[in-house]
Amino acid sequence: MPIPESFLEELAERNDIADVVSGYVRLTRRSGANQFGLCPFHSEKTPSFSVNTERQIYHCFGCGKSGGVINFIMEIENLSFPDAVQFLAKRVGLEVPEDGRDENRGRRARMLELNREAARFFHAQLMAPQGRIAQEYVVKRGITNMVKPFGLGFAPDGWDGLLNAMTAKGFTRAELIEASLATAGKNGGAYDFFRNRLMFPVIDVRGSVIGFSGRILDDREPKYLNSRDTLVYSKARSLFALNLAKKSKSGYILLAEGNIDVVSLHQAGFDSAVASLGTSLTADQARLLARYTGEIVIAYDSDAAGQKAAQRAIELLSPLEMRVKVLQIPGAKDPDEFIQSRGPQAFRDLIERSGNQIEYRLQRVASDYDLTSDEGRSEYLKAAAALIASLPSGIDREIYGLRAAEKAGVSKEMFLPEVERFRKRRSAAAKKQEDREATAPVKAVQPKARELRYENVRSARAEEGILRLVYRFPDRFGDLPLTGADFSSDALGRLYDALTRRIREGRSISVAVLSAQFTAEEIELMTQRIVQQDDVPPEAAEDAMNDYIKILREEKDKAVRQDDLLAYSEKLRQKKGLGGQDG
Ligand code: UTP
Ligand code: MN
Repeated sequence: MPIPESFLEELAERNDIADVVSGYVRLTRRSGANQFGLCPFHSEKTPSFSVNTERQIYHCFGCGKSGGVINFIMEIENLSFPDAVQFLAKRVGLEVPEDGRDENRGRRARMLELNREAARFFHAQLMAPQGRIAQEYVVKRGITNMVKPFGLGFAPDGWDGLLNAMTAKGFTRAELIEASLATAGKNGGAYDFFRNRLMFPVIDVRGSVIGFSGRILDDREPKYLNSRDTLVYSKARSLFALNLAKKSKSGYILLAEGNIDVVSLHQAGFDSAVASLGTSLTADQARLLARYTGEIVIAYDSDAAGQKAAQRAIELLSPLEMRVKVLQIPGAKDPDEFIQSRGPQAFRDLIERSGNQIEYRLQRVASDYDLTSDEGRSEYLKAAAALIASLPSGIDREIYGLRAAEKAGVSKEMFLPEVERFRKRRSAAAKKQEDREATAPVKAVQPKARELRYENVRSARAEEGILRLVYRFPDRFGDLPLTGADFSSDALGRLYDALTRRIREGRSISVAVLSAQFTAEEIELMTQRIVQQDDVPPEAAEDAMNDYIKILREEKDKAVRQDDLLAYSEKLRQKKGLGGQDG
């Protein structure tokens, strides 16, 4: 345990969540143990951000952000867990135990060293004869010159290539698992996390290898695999290739979706390209970008999902006072495809011709209507008025209003009053919408974070139910005949173990204290679905618990039968001599 639990308990007790949050958010409304204010993590006009003083958690009904007091500080100050602990300790005049801090620092340093060795191994594999298929792939994708600057590599198609090489260097299996370079097997063993993939090291601005993305070389799924979050890696706070882009003299940063897009852009001479890592841009990534540039050129995929992600990115970047341009990439699915077919100069033209975000939105609106017909023009003007009405600046409304009016061939005297009418209607509608969002909790079945996806949704729902009851009634359900290993979701299982261990030891089960052992995403899941909800009345708790356990056991039996079948067919395969694993 890096930071002693007893210290975290004291820290959480002294830093009341409402006090801490009040330093950043004006809590204006109270309802029971909940206080509400405007969410600091997304922009809104009516408060949907809540702080619950009884459970010591925050939760935003609008954007879903949630956690305990330490998570709040990590999120809002953009700090790592140990730094957030340090921050809160200082706030109340506590001293973080010296050895705790050192030990954590030691673990981080060791993990970074392991990551660097792993990157070296993958790179050597790519350059060696056995890396030929990956070499051929690199040639096929036209990114040969980028192998060195990006430190690209190859994870061979076996089960233990990296494991053997790293254990020979003195790293333990446990260390590899903790670094997301290996996966724990059923019988205490472990196997390589990345197999048969072209490897992209994720390198932070200080030059440390913090994680990896790997693209499969054949057509197996998933196409891309990213390291899980670790002690040194948080996907939501990192940007792929920012280590290279920060040195660019171009004056802007190009934001793409995919790893290959970024490498391909660099190969074509666009040395300021970065990508968010398998997720759409987060608020942390937006703040990180703002530290290195005042202008972003968004080059997302041209499909609907990419365009939607571009809208979200605009919303995150604009409040940070950054100039934002959005590229539309005609006739290709993504920047890489465009460059491969049309060449770098055509892409440069795209950047030069791209308008700012308002122009971009207006263009998209215009392309939806037939401006040669009266009816089309009239519809266009309504849509444009709605869009322009949303601009906060009166000057902008005037400028773009004029432009839209010209486009449809009407006078601005006719069009601008229409914009103002929309503006009035809009503010009433926006308020209603936000109120609705504030009262309806986000209830998606799957967790937001990709790495927490439930493989067995039926079982996972029951597991969430079990955790809710254990959390609410620790003295009734603190020692069930279950362990985390019975759970289908790895994260929920670990949560169950951590929770019940603390209950047995009579320790605090606050979110803040638990957050030492879990990633921010895991804590968010826990806060949203476990701590924040109580759906079962106390008198029905026993029955509900029995139902949940029954479902969990049924699903586990099914999974075991499935595993037996797989093992059996694997045996058959090997007997027939088809199971060879040499690369
Ligand atoms: P795309 O599916 O658009 O792939 O995913 P791509 O970048 O065009 O890759 P190529 O050209 O087929 O090689 C875009 C990004 O989304 C994330 C990855 O970061 C990827 O680069 N992603 C995609 C995943 O994390 N996992 C997946 O299974 C797929
Ligand atoms: Mn692509």
